[in-house]
Amino acid sequence: MTAPASRTAGDDLAIAVGPDLAGLDPERLAVEYGTPFYLYDLDVVSRRVAALRAVLPAGRFDLAYAIKANPSLAVVAHLAALGLGADIASEGELALVRRAGFASARVLFTGPGKSDAELRAAVGSRVGSITVESPGELARLDRIAAEAGRRMPILLRLAVGERSVLEAVRIIGDGGLGKFGMGAADLAVAAERAARSPHLQLLGVHAFGASNVRAASALVEHIGETVAYAQRVAADVGVPLALVDGGGGLGIPYADGEEPLDLDALGRGLERLEREWAADSGLAGLRALLEPGRFLVGPAGVYVTRVLDVKTLDGRTVAVVDGGIHHVLRPALVRQGHRVIRLGTAAHAGGAEAAVVGPLCTGLDILSPSAPIGSVSVGDLLAVRDVGAYGFTESMPLFLSRPLPAEVVVSRGRAALVRPAIDPSEFLDRQLLPDW
Ligand SMILES: Cc1ncc(COP(=O)(O)O)c(C=O)c1O
Repeated sequence: MTAPASRTAGDDLAIAVGPDLAGLDPERLAVEYGTPFYLYDLDVVSRRVAALRAVLPAGRFDLAYAIKANPSLAVVAHLAALGLGADIASEGELALVRRAGFASARVLFTGPGKSDAELRAAVGSRVGSITVESPGELARLDRIAAEAGRRMPILLRLAVGERSVLEAVRIIGDGGLGKFGMGAADLAVAAERAARSPHLQLLGVHAFGASNVRAASALVEHIGETVAYAQRVAADVGVPLALVDGGGGLGIPYADGEEPLDLDALGRGLERLEREWAADSGLAGLRALLEPGRFLVGPAGVYVTRVLDVKTLDGRTVAVVDGGIHHVLRPALVRQGHRVIRLGTAAHAGGAEAAVVGPLCTGLDILSPSAPIGSVSVGDLLAVRDVGAYGFTESMPLFLSRPLPAEVVVSRGRAALVRPAIDPSEFLDRQLLPDW
């Protein structure tokens, strides 16, 4: 096998792409699984977990993987085997993490709009904690826990929106705080009620800051502010602060030139917080939790697609491929193309740029407006990078009734199919015509 021609910074922390694919022959994979398909490198996931764990202050921090980032059973089971907890957001994800082998006590259930049935399922399966997002949800959970004869451990989620925790706490009334969690005034009332309830055990506070943050200082500040706030909340209602969940949001680069999150700087910042906390006897029992998704799995995945057509429009080369934003929605959502690499013997690490577009009947279907894929030809294989998180799970795969791509994992030089492609006829067959 030839050495990878194009790898970015942090290299063994991303799947190796071009001309090979994680050390395997892309053409063979494409023939075996059909294009387009997703490929996740589990060894990269392991290394990303190890790299993050290595900078977390020992004994204080836990990691819970945010299942929504990539709910492929093989990926989730791999993270369970690595000893992480799980952050779930639905009853479907609860079923998934149980099948993947997570101990219930390591599971946290967070998300706005939990139904009574979902709350009952979570209480019944004894998840480690439920993050409560409103006073109304607190009242429902209190009743459901009472019916189940349980004392349910909970976190209260502070609405942060686009603000910092400090700013969010200053806001009474709550304009602009978004849809998650509750404002500080409601949270104070909820904390009182939770502390008095025999069916609820208030552990602490949850606050998710911004998404895809690559500045270590911003993450450290968020965690520090969340703990300081949670400490006040716990003291006000007279419970010991046991758990603070700083959410996810650890970022990854999507474009050349974007710096990866500086893990050493993150570690130094967290160590500084740890020293402050260690000096405070009120925080002796505090556990801090991060629930990253994107950071752990994003760079471990690629989406492989084949060129169907090449044409010139307005003087620029346009490569039309058999995959598109129905499987990798992010370029359309945030208007930022993904890095695309040409695979196989003709692989290019650079060269002339071409737009890489999909087959959908919408102008949004652009995977990259300018990928350096050289003199691309019909039949070439391209790899769209950084799709291990919010790839398939965030896609709209039924749009235009094309097959759903297979998911494949690779580890130690072996590939395994973990979900076969799904033909649209399966969805067609489930439809009914009214029989009136
Ligand atoms: C509650 C919660 N935790 C964790 C995550 C994971 O975020 P990220 O993938 O940015 O780390 C999300 C993402 O939406 C979330 O809503």
